Amino acid sequence: MQAPTYGIKDSRSIKEQRESLPIYRFKQQIIDAVADNQMLVVIGETGSGKTTQMTQYLAEAGYTSRGKIGCTQPRRVAAMSVAKRVAEEVGCRLGEEVCCSLLCFWRCCCNRLQVYCEKSMLK
Ligand SMILES: Nc1ncnc2c1ncn2[C@@H]1O[C@H](COP(=O)(O)OP(=O)(O)OP(=O)(O)O)[C@@H](O)[C@H]1O
Ligand SMILES: [Mg+2]
Repeated sequence: MQAPTYGIKDSRSIKEQRESLPIYRFKQQIIDAVADNQMLVVIGETGSGKTTQMTQYLAEAGYTSRGKIGCTQPRRVAAMSVAKRVAEEVGCRLGEEVCCSLLCFWRCCCNRLQVYCEKSMLK
């Protein structure tokens, strides 16, 4: 599976790309804040890595052993795109550790790493 390039080729490894995102230097702070708070609001500019990285940080911190890590997106196409990208970064096929659950389209069932769904899934 090849990631869309948005017209710009990126020859860096996935690790290098992940570590170049603005959110990366806050990784441990975010993990600690999630552990210490019931609710947390993270604000960052678009493309800073909130969606694609925070889920992976929490997975790396062991949160999948307690259940699913859910991530909602406002649109179906955004959910698919983000789930595909995160699966690529994690190095798995979509539907394995990283799943995309849409309202009438379940790509996976349970015990998975991250779930991307439309907001309405949570209603
Ligand atoms: N589908 C994709 N294919 C390739 N790269 C992507 C894809 N989605 C995101 N990225 C890359 O990952 C980076 C982080 O994107 P991410 O969606 O995590 O940002 P965000 O902070 O959630 O932004 P927003 O506030 O717009 O939701 C982007 O800068 C982009 O380079
Ligand atoms: Mg986002």
